[in-house]
Amino acid sequence: MGLESLIKRAAKDVAKAKKVVALTGAGISVESGIAPFRGKGGLWEKFNPEEYAHINAFRRHPEKVWSVLLKDMFEVIKNAQPNPAHLALARLEKLGKLHCVITQNVDGLHQKAGNTDVIEFHGTLAWLVCLDCGKRFKTEEYKVKEMPPRCECGGVLKPDAVFFGEPIPVEALRRSQHEARTCDVMLVIGTSAVVYPAASIPSIAKNAGATIIEINPEATPLTGVVSDYIIEGNAGEVLPKIVDEVEKLLRAQE
Ligand code: OAD
Repeated sequence: MGLESLIKRAAKDVAKAKKVVALTGAGISVESGIAPFRGKGGLWEKFNPEEYAHINAFRRHPEKVWSVLLKDMFEVIKNAQPNPAHLALARLEKLGKLHCVITQNVDGLHQKAGNTDVIEFHGTLAWLVCLDCGKRFKTEEYKVKEMPPRCECGGVLKPDAVFFGEPIPVEALRRSQHEARTCDVMLVIGTSAVVYPAASIPSIAKNAGATIIEINPEATPLTGVVSDYIIEGNAGEVLPKIVDEVEKLLRAQE
């Protein structure tokens, strides 16, 4: 099937579904100028995740992780804007055809685009949390005066994002599993699907009978196994076209 036919097929599946859920990964933010983790130009090509993204490494050397990785990451994300893929998902919600977004991203771009129900599976960079007393600070209001940034109590501040070795926020995990079990279409967009438990969410949906549609320029471990079909392309090009088609189909039904 060619790209255009697959886009039409996805639009039909979405238009007739009762409950559509999207699971997104770093790939959806690539066209907003945010580097993904894996593959060409990925963060883990430059940084060893064991050294920079594991909670034990952060606890041992918070200053190093902040100055080498996090400072730049915050800067990039602060200036990033939603791209056509984020905006298409926001439009799908407005059309009444997207129940919620489960995202592994910590950049807040789905909310910036206008989606109102976003489950942040790996937390967020919008908040900082004290490792000692648990006090939380809004990142945009916090003035960084030292490295690593600290709480009034002297404790080190960590972004409220999930590091390797940390559990998934309980409510995000519970709700994601529930939404996966109860949707009938899942759009899996821009994730390499190798980090668990996020990568198990599409299988939960599949086992409950949902149609799984991947949007990714490259195949993943889900392709041909869990996903019903993959639309091989950039999310910023493919998603707006799917939503245009959905809109046409809905209008024709009126
Ligand atoms: P990855 O960096 O592992 O994968 C990005 C995926 O996006 C790949 O499959 C690419 O082929 C795809 N991609 C690239 N450009 C794209 C585009 N324009 N449109 C659509 N897809 C595109 O990112 P994640 O799967 O999100 O966790 O990574 C999962 C987790 O690993 C992250 O949440 C993070 C990381 O370590 C933690 O830090 C806990």
